[in-house]
Amino acid sequence: MLHDPNKVYVFDTTLRDGEQVPGCQLTTPEKIEIAKELEALGVDIIEAGFPISSPGDFQSVVELSKAVSQPIICALTRANKGDIDSAVAALQYAKRPRIHTGIGSSDMHIKHKFNSTREEILLRAVDAVKYAKQFVEDIEFYAEDAGRADVNFLAQMVEAVIAAGATVVNIPDTNGYCLPDQYGQKIKFLKDNVQNIDQAIISVHCHNDLGLATANSIAGLQNGARQIEGTINGIGERAGNTSIEEVVMILKTHQNLGLHTNINTKNFYEISRMVSSQMRMPVQPNKAIVGSNAFAHSSGIHQDGFLKNRENYEIIRPEDVGFPDATIVLTARSGRHALKFHLERLGHNLSKDELASAYHHFLTIADRKLNINDEDLTLMMRELSSVE
Ligand code: KIV
Ligand code: ZN
Repeated sequence: MLHDPNKVYVFDTTLRDGEQVPGCQLTTPEKIEIAKELEALGVDIIEAGFPISSPGDFQSVVELSKAVSQPIICALTRANKGDIDSAVAALQYAKRPRIHTGIGSSDMHIKHKFNSTREEILLRAVDAVKYAKQFVEDIEFYAEDAGRADVNFLAQMVEAVIAAGATVVNIPDTNGYCLPDQYGQKIKFLKDNVQNIDQAIISVHCHNDLGLATANSIAGLQNGARQIEGTINGIGERAGNTSIEEVVMILKTHQNLGLHTNINTKNFYEISRMVSSQMRMPVQPNKAIVGSNAFAHSSGIHQDGFLKNRENYEIIRPEDVGFPDATIVLTARSGRHALKFHLERLGHNLSKDELASAYHHFLTIADRKLNINDEDLTLMMRELSSVE
């Protein structure tokens, strides 16, 4: 396989792992709308669903395969023939189909989920890949709960599934358990110890139970993974999945990592709002990259520095992620530079003394009211001019 060694493939699972969140279920037309936005965003792979799970999910994979042509369309299965047959049927219209099959890899899952042994699980993993490979060339294998798996057994499993035909090997931290250096070391171990690892792409799929999904994904990429799996706004089971927008903007901001994606980052804000409203999942205001406060400056010290040079407090330009613009929020913690900025915007050019008196007045209002908007300022200026 010939791949640009520095390209990171972006695998979006908003419509599969993201949609598993209670209350976030979507209709097929809603999924198609999001899939088209994901296509415009430039994701490389869309995980469209888990076809065996319900007739509705099956139909969504069928319709998405027809509606979207650029990205690879992927369907999830467990490691059994029934699931794989269903995924093959659902992907019949996909121009570039991928089957994502897999099984547990930690002793916890092997014993307490499958009531099985490492040897038997290994056979099931290889059989599933071989079976799926008869129908679809592009096979991704997931080693569920790899974050807690014994690394030697994980390496054995990864080597066996690549030999059976897997083109991508997904190393999920299913429970969001790992620390970044542990997860990074796990990926490095596979890179260094799996004989045929160069025949496949290593994928990172992290959950956010300890708030480390993004950090772990980056650690995986720094140690040789070249596909990142995640969702828009980081939605997903429990505490969610890796936020695609965070990983992509980290790679863009830290160009010394030497990694790049195909993502049109200017589309992030719009797709974030669309996913939030379709899935009825509000975006927390302080969410990195797409939260409503992500580019809002409110304390006087920050506002002053920002107005002198935006880069004092801005490492990403809002327009690079499609954000309307940075905002200077007026609160009782704002300084006179921020007030002057807003008053000038509204057409009030004040002398130094006039500004001092306006600022004094502003603080008394701001102490009573959390945020001061344009109407408050206009009213304040009207009051001040009537006093004079
Ligand atoms: O978190 C996980 O392990 C998964 C797999 C099904 C890929 O979502
Ligand atoms: Zn997952």
